Amino acid sequence: MKNILITGGTGYIGSHTCVELIESGYNPIIIDNLSNSKRKIVDRIEKITGKKIIFEKCDISDKKNIERIIKEFNCEAVIHFAGFKAVGESQTNPLMYYKNNVSGTINLLDAMKSAGLKKIVFSSSATVYGKPKFLPLTEDHPVSPENIYGKTKLAVENILRDIFIADPDWRICILRYFNPVGAHNSGLIGDDPKGIPNNLMPFISQVAVGRRSHLNIWGNDYNTNDGTGVRDYIHVIDLAQGHIKAIEKINSLKGAVINLGTGRGYSVLEMIQSFEKASAKKIKYEFRPRRDGDIEINYADPSKAKEIFNWEAKLDINEMCKDIWRWQSMNPKGV
Ligand code: NAD
Ligand code: UFG
Repeated sequence: MKNILITGGTGYIGSHTCVELIESGYNPIIIDNLSNSKRKIVDRIEKITGKKIIFEKCDISDKKNIERIIKEFNCEAVIHFAGFKAVGESQTNPLMYYKNNVSGTINLLDAMKSAGLKKIVFSSSATVYGKPKFLPLTEDHPVSPENIYGKTKLAVENILRDIFIADPDWRICILRYFNPVGAHNSGLIGDDPKGIPNNLMPFISQVAVGRRSHLNIWGNDYNTNDGTGVRDYIHVIDLAQGHIKAIEKINSLKGAVINLGTGRGYSVLEMIQSFEKASAKKIKYEFRPRRDGDIEINYADPSKAKEIFNWEAKLDINEMCKDIWRWQSMNPKGV
């Protein structure tokens, strides 16, 4: 039973990854400061898996405590999810983002080094590519993030590369996620944003459950099939399984950068249509001007993940929408 330290493990992607880890025979040791998630998620993970979870409320800036946890539980690798992720907020509060996402990660890496642990899987984002110069986006597409959140992700990627150059004993995997959506099929965990959702699918599901009157669609004049933005939506369970592959292969990963996406893009209107079918609910929407900083279309070239991990996304948008609806209708107000 290998212990894996999971930072941000009560968050959306972290909680689903913990479930998949347990089901693959690993033992997640969760740390989270609960700034964007709830303690109750630990109970939900335990309910799904039937296993007792080790959880410590801890900030990634708390170097001493992290060092102690790594040693106490003899952790064999870290999956680092903890961070802030709201693009708009990062534009108005850059220091908060650099401090949490970059300084926080430096503290974590420092604690790992002190504890003699040099294996890490890092949650990066397709947002580091910025405006696509070509599609699909391969890992060697130039990086040029257009928002501060994306810049913090790129800064961490660069730090990780530098520590590997200085000390080739490190084993590092940088995962660039496309658009994670969906929920565990138990309906017990899912995307549970605080306040008004920034992202499309939680907004749609909150309209369906009556928490919001309608969806604003940001732009219908893009150069896409129906004028609305196109993204590569990936089921969070597929994404979580990508992390299991990264952990299985970690000893051979020396700073690998890997896209986790499906390779297919869907428009906002296509996602609404699919959600309406899965939920039997009508989603009211209004067209609004484009959202600042949004790109027209992006989708991944997922072939590197297939080659290195023997992994590919299996669940389609119908599955994504059914699982979102199960989660939202079982938890209309979140957990
Ligand atoms: P989330 O907010 O649900 O989870 C992040 C967790 O980290 C939360 O539980 C939060 O409480 C915790 N956290 C934040 N700062 C912390 C700190 N200083 N110390 C300890 N815990 C802290 O977000 P998520 O969607 O699960 O995203 C996980 C990671 O994946 C993030 O790094 C995010 O940037 C990245 N990512 C997410 C998306 C997406 O669309 N969801 C896309 C690309 C990349
Ligand atoms: N959209 C709407 N109305 C909404 C929300 C979104 O029309 O209320 C549209 C957007 O304009 C876009 C699409 O739905 O065309 C998807 O938007 P999201 O906000 O769900 O996702 P983004 O692609 O903008 O960004 C997400 C994450 C980022 C991450 C990026 C990776 O929020 O953190 O995917 O590609 F970096």
